[in-house]
Amino acid sequence: MPFIRESIVTTRNADGTAHIAPMGIHELDEGLLIAPFKPSRTLVNLERDRAAAINYTDDVRIYAGCVTGRYSWPVQDADIIPAPRLQACLAHSEVEVARVEHDEQRPRYYCRVVHEANHAPFHGFNRAQNAVIETAILVTRLGMLPAEKIDREIDYLRIAIDKTAGPREQEAWGWLMATIDEFRKKP
Ligand SMILES: Cc1cc2nc3c(=O)[nH]c(=O)nc-3n(C[C@H](O)[C@H](O)[C@H](O)COP(=O)(O)O)c2cc1C
Repeated sequence: MPFIRESIVTTRNADGTAHIAPMGIHELDEGLLIAPFKPSRTLVNLERDRAAAINYTDDVRIYAGCVTGRYSWPVQDADIIPAPRLQACLAHSEVEVARVEHDEQRPRYYCRVVHEANHAPFHGFNRAQNAVIETAILVTRLGMLPAEKIDREIDYLRIAIDKTAGPREQEAWGWLMATIDEFRKKP
């Protein structure tokens, strides 16, 4: 069974700007696996630079933001690879592509970790953060999943928001709910 961490992948665009995308990163004995669905800007950047930063952050607004059109999160240069990293990460890994398994739908980029750094302490799990990440995934599947399934899952996930969210989680939740509402208003 794969062990997957929901992370923020940062890569460099051809014009030097940062590209930020939430992705599930598989942990393997040999390193980390990034598996972008085509088409993907992350994939294009990985093909060109063969490098990415994997950012571990508890600011779930970045997950919710990226799936609701908010991409301007502060970044800085990574330490040793040609890619940016999030300023708001608790820690990050810098990876280089070691080999690629090509696929029409979802190529697999096997990466070796060339550098890691810690920036701030991890203060424990928060259920509302998990709820935001789960809901962000639902938002990426709005056109694919039945509305009743989405409503059922949101009813459950909202319990954790009501009980345990702080201001960042509430803001992220608001963006996600607004995006779902807008999607449903479209003809
Ligand atoms: C928690 C989370 C995990 C995700 N994992 C993946 C993933 O492993 N592969 C992928 O292609 N998209 C994943 N997505 C969706 C991408 O973030 C989104 O489609 C993004 O636009 C990727 O395309 P890009 O590389 O062009 O930015 C995930 C989204 C969320 C919220």
